[in-house]
Amino acid sequence: MTNQQDVGNRWVVVIGGFLGSTMCGILLYAWSVFIKPFQAEFGWNKAEIAIAFSICCAVFGVTTFFAGRLQDKFGPKIVVFIGGILMAIGFFLTGYTKSLGYLYFMYGFVAGVGGGMVYLPPIATAPKWFPDKRGLITGLNVVGLGLGSFIMAPYATALIVDPEYGWRMVFFSVGVLFLILTFPAAMVLRVPPAGWTPPGWTPPVVAKDTEAATVHSFTFTEMIKTRGLWVLYIMYAGGSIAGLMVIGHLAAYGRESGLTPMEAAGAVSCLAFTNAAGRVIIGWLADTFGSVPCLMGIMLVQCLIMSVLIKAGTAVVTLGIASAIIGFNYGAMFTMFPVQTGKFFGPKHMGINYGFVFTAWSVGALLGPWFGGYIFDVTGSYLVPFYFGSAVCAIAFVAGFFLKAPVYEEVKA
Ligand code: 2OP
Repeated sequence: MTNQQDVGNRWVVVIGGFLGSTMCGILLYAWSVFIKPFQAEFGWNKAEIAIAFSICCAVFGVTTFFAGRLQDKFGPKIVVFIGGILMAIGFFLTGYTKSLGYLYFMYGFVAGVGGGMVYLPPIATAPKWFPDKRGLITGLNVVGLGLGSFIMAPYATALIVDPEYGWRMVFFSVGVLFLILTFPAAMVLRVPPAGWTPPGWTPPVVAKDTEAATVHSFTFTEMIKTRGLWVLYIMYAGGSIAGLMVIGHLAAYGRESGLTPMEAAGAVSCLAFTNAAGRVIIGWLADTFGSVPCLMGIMLVQCLIMSVLIKAGTAVVTLGIASAIIGFNYGAMFTMFPVQTGKFFGPKHMGINYGFVFTAWSVGALLGPWFGGYIFDVTGSYLVPFYFGSAVCAIAFVAGFFLKAPVYEEVKA
């Protein structure tokens, strides 16, 4: 019997996702610390430097789709291993940057491809070991995205301001760190034997929350014919546009509103903290109360808080609280969307399926920060961007009423 095979400790697999997601958090979410040193050394403007980040996010997101396909075929270990090496090479060589084109290629493309390959496989793999704790485990697999920026921002800042080291040393040292972390992150990943379930666990006969199509594992081609997929996509893109717009502009917004640099940085830290914490807490909530109510709750609260954000900036306490709520909802999405994808479309093709769903985040990464900056440049205020963020979250919330577990008979060829 499969269940009596010695499969080892399933919690070990979670270490891979934790390490991999921390690498991705380091790669993505501390980017703003490099803006000043690049401006000082090369005279590039903010928009030119921001393009490197946008390229990285777009490439990261698109790569998850291919990484998902590869991991379904070859297993998670090899995909994460190659991805980690690419991340390490791309990040290390970014330390030799002398031109924008080189920066876009090394950081944006090479490290971005690596990031997408490291990010996706653990999210597709770990829930196969934990059908009994899908939400919590997905949260633990993505919590490092929030933690990574916590570690990276102060570390990079300390090196950047030290005349002995400077920004290049950040890329060199973190590139080496990525190389070292790649080995444990990849090696602990493995898929359970076919048919394995946790000892003593029986699948619920009726899905707790009418949100799961438990019988059939949808292929990618079947998935894209379902309404559930496109509703999820709209919700994910909406939440990402709003969240990334705030992440990209929060410090600047705080300063524009009259806060000191330290106070504005405090708001950024509040957001980073809850971006990490929200991923685990919502996983537990989803396991307890069901994933669709949690998904809709995130969107509703994000819509409401975005609508008052323009008033929150004048005091450090109100901006801190608003940022924390936004960070929670933003981080929670990265637990909830994989969970819902797995529930709707089954575990078998989870890699490619969630890889596609995740491209909605790239849409947000391309549109959100850019739109916020563009409208600010034109109007001199964040009023319109924040109301726009609130509106897209409202659309995402309303879309949630159309979420319905897919029915295989309706899409089979
Ligand atoms: C996340 O934070 C990569 O943005 C994605 O999980």
